[in-house]
Amino acid sequence: MSVTSSGSATYSDALEGSNAKRGLWSSRFAFILAATGSAVGLGNIWKFPYVTGENGGGAFVLVYLLCIAVVGIPIMMAEVMIGRRGGRSPVNSIRLITERDRLKPAWKLVGAIGVLAGFLILSFYSVIGGWAISYVGTTASGQLAGQSAEAVGAIFSGLLSNPSTLLLWHTVFMALVMVVVARGVRSGLERAVSILMPALFVLLLLVVGYAMTTGHFGQAAAFLFQPDFSKLTTSGVLVALGHAFFTLSLGMAVMMAYGSYLPKKISIAKTSITVSVIDTGVALLAGLAIFPIVFANGLEPGAGPGLIFQTLPLAFGQMPMGTLFGTLFFVLLIFAAWTSGISLLEPIVEWLEEQKGMNRTISTIAAGGVCWALGIASVLSLNLWADVAPLGFIPMLEGKTIFDLLDFFTANILLPLGGLLVALFAGWVMSRQAMENELSLSPTMFNLWFITVRFVTPVAVAIVFIYNLM
Ligand code: TRP
Repeated sequence: MSVTSSGSATYSDALEGSNAKRGLWSSRFAFILAATGSAVGLGNIWKFPYVTGENGGGAFVLVYLLCIAVVGIPIMMAEVMIGRRGGRSPVNSIRLITERDRLKPAWKLVGAIGVLAGFLILSFYSVIGGWAISYVGTTASGQLAGQSAEAVGAIFSGLLSNPSTLLLWHTVFMALVMVVVARGVRSGLERAVSILMPALFVLLLLVVGYAMTTGHFGQAAAFLFQPDFSKLTTSGVLVALGHAFFTLSLGMAVMMAYGSYLPKKISIAKTSITVSVIDTGVALLAGLAIFPIVFANGLEPGAGPGLIFQTLPLAFGQMPMGTLFGTLFFVLLIFAAWTSGISLLEPIVEWLEEQKGMNRTISTIAAGGVCWALGIASVLSLNLWADVAPLGFIPMLEGKTIFDLLDFFTANILLPLGGLLVALFAGWVMSRQAMENELSLSPTMFNLWFITVRFVTPVAVAIVFIYNLM
């Protein structure tokens, strides 16, 4: 199971060569920008508040934070490490590492899950990204000013009921993602991310600043941070676990793909912790921005996927300069979603380039085209197919539309499963010496991480899965 030291020297030389050809991140900062750009997205600003609202607040947030610390960060380290070790796209990195260590090629499955999850997530992610684009126009045109809750709700349901408008903005969002991916990691992604991310932080702080003036900040903070365990359900724990994977972009080998560009001398642990802390910070900030507005206006925290689109516009319609802040907010949301969307498409394109020998433009058009076409199912399940629940005969999936199913299947099943495989791969399959070299941690820290991915993570994921099946 272990590699000889002379073998591993040749190996990493070969990998260095392949990395040099593919271009490395220019610095640790560039990698953090890109990984944060991937992690911070609709998951933080759209999904975190609404799943928190649906699952009763504090206790759910606590479990989510626990999942980030105990499962998320160790798995992010494992993904980045495998990516850097393999130095190729996730599928090939895994295959390279396993073949080299003469281990079963079955582990290729990790990369395959990544490509599948990428297709499925991006298809509906792009539709929500489209909502955000549409709301820039809605807000900027000033039509929200002074509107009642009914009118704001009607604008949202009006958008959902219109397949051609949804399709238009879904198409625009997908095109934005494809343009950056087609231009390549160095020239497109890195440059885009280094401009978009700082802007995102500033704009989010602005909304939190407003939320503090609503007089309901304390209530929102209590809702988010005072755990009431009577409100926590088994499925809530699964959602918290799934969301930890979703929000950190784990379980589909995205961080593996990005790690393959990380220079050897950079600390994987420090970098992973930084990215996770920023991501969690943004989610909590988003909660602190949204819930004071929810409570100040007597709105429903558990309103579901429409939460930010139904509650925030109402608040923006009432606050001074709301048209400006509202527009800025949705622009922010597009930027966040855009960088995440890029990271969903990137590994698929990288895989097509390597595996099928296609050039980047053609791979981007092919992969983006498939996601776009798949997205049409999500568009329709918001209106014409709103009553179609393809797996409704399974009690747990009763009433779930295609859109709901894609979200449920990817975040709560596929990603934790991908993460579980990554943990098992690092904990039981990969050569320990290779991992010590890559992570270069103190022996205590290495063992802490190793025990976590070897035992804690697999057991935690397995328990949550089993409880939910019962
Ligand atoms: N993390 C992003 C968000 O919170 C979504 C995302 C981007 C993602 N890339 C991913 C989720 C890869 C899982 C895997 O919005």
